Amino acid sequence: MMAAGVALQSIREAVETACRAPSLHNSQPWRWTMSGGRLQLHADGSRSVPVADPIGRQMVISCGAVLHHFAVVISRYGWGAAVERLPDSRNPMHLATVAFEPLPRSRAADTENRSDALRTAIAHRRTDRRPFAAPRPADLVGVDEDLVPRFGASLTMLGEDGPSRMAEAARNSASIRRYDPAYHAELYWWAGHRLPDQGIPGAALPAEGAVPVGREFPVGTLASPESGPDRAALAVISTEADTRLDWLRSGEALSHVLLTATSRGLATCPLTHLTEVSASRALVGDAGADAGERFPFPQIVVRIGARPGGDAPPMTGRRPVDEVWRA
Ligand SMILES: Cc1cc2nc3c(=O)[nH]c(=O)nc-3n(C[C@H](O)[C@H](O)[C@H](O)COP(=O)(O)O)c2cc1C
Repeated sequence: MMAAGVALQSIREAVETACRAPSLHNSQPWRWTMSGGRLQLHADGSRSVPVADPIGRQMVISCGAVLHHFAVVISRYGWGAAVERLPDSRNPMHLATVAFEPLPRSRAADTENRSDALRTAIAHRRTDRRPFAAPRPADLVGVDEDLVPRFGASLTMLGEDGPSRMAEAARNSASIRRYDPAYHAELYWWAGHRLPDQGIPGAALPAEGAVPVGREFPVGTLASPESGPDRAALAVISTEADTRLDWLRSGEALSHVLLTATSRGLATCPLTHLTEVSASRALVGDAGADAGERFPFPQIVVRIGARPGGDAPPMTGRRPVDEVWRA
C-alpha cells in the first residue's frame, strides 16, 4: 500500500526509527496514525508524567523531538516531510500532520548529505548523566546554526558562570521538591529499575559521581570511568513565548541539537528539572544576565561534553512500534 506515493512500510519503518527520540523519563507520549494519505502525530495523554509535568509542556516537547527525528529519517527514502503544526484548533493533542513531498534530485542530495550524519546519530545518541570533560570549542561551532529561523527557538551557550548559576537552580528545584512525596513516587516509578520498553533502567543511571546540575535520580549501576568534576558546556534552549507551538518547536530544536552534537562525537544530556519549578525556571531565565541576555521562556538546558571513556550508557527500551502506530 502507498500513501501519496510513499510505501506504508517505509513510513512504518521511519516511525519505528524516529521513536528512538528522547522523552521525559522515556515516557514516549506519542501516537502516530495515517489518515488521508498523511501521517498524524498526537500526544498521548495517558502517558503523561503529571507531577513533574502538570501542564504537559514536556509531553509536547518530547513529541517535537520525535517529529524532528521522523523528518530526518524519512529523507532516506527520498521524501521530504511537509509539516503542519497544530492542524486542529479544536484538538490540542493533535500536534502535527505530515504530508510527503518527493525531494527534487538536487535537494535530495543536499538534504541527504545534511541528514545522513543526523540519521546515523539517532542510533548512537544516548542520554549520558555522568560528568563530561569539556568539549573542544571547534566541536560546538554551528550547533546553533539557523535554529531560530528553522525552529523558532534559540540555543545559547552559557558563559563561565553558567555552571554555578545552573547548580543554584538545581539546588533550588531539589529543595522545593525535597518533601514532595508525589514527585518522588513518580520519579521512582519511572527510573531505577527495569520496566519493559519504557522508563530509565538502573543501568543507564550513574553508580557514582552525580553532576551538580543534574536531576537527582535513584543511584544506578553505570560506571563513571572519569569521575572528575563536570566540565560540560551548558546551553539553554529558549523561546519568545510559552505556547504549545513553542513547546513543539523547542522539542524539534532539542532533537536537532542532540543529533548534531552526537554526530560530532559528543555526549549530551537534556535537563528539565531546572525549568519545571517556576522559581528555578526564573533563575535559568537570568542565567545570561552577565552577557546582557535574558531568556524569556527557557525550555530545556542541555549539557554537552566530551564522551566519557569506557562503556556508553545502554540503549533504553522503546515500546513496540505497533503500540504507537496505526495505518
Ligand atoms: C522533555 C525531556 C525532558 C528530559 N528531562 C531530563 C532530565 O531532567 N534529566 C535527565 O537526565 N534526562 C532528561 N531527559 C532525557 C530522558 O530521560 C531520556 O531521553 C529517556 O530516558 C530515554 O533515554 P535516551 O535519551 O538515552 O534514549 C529528558 C528528555 C526530554 C525529551
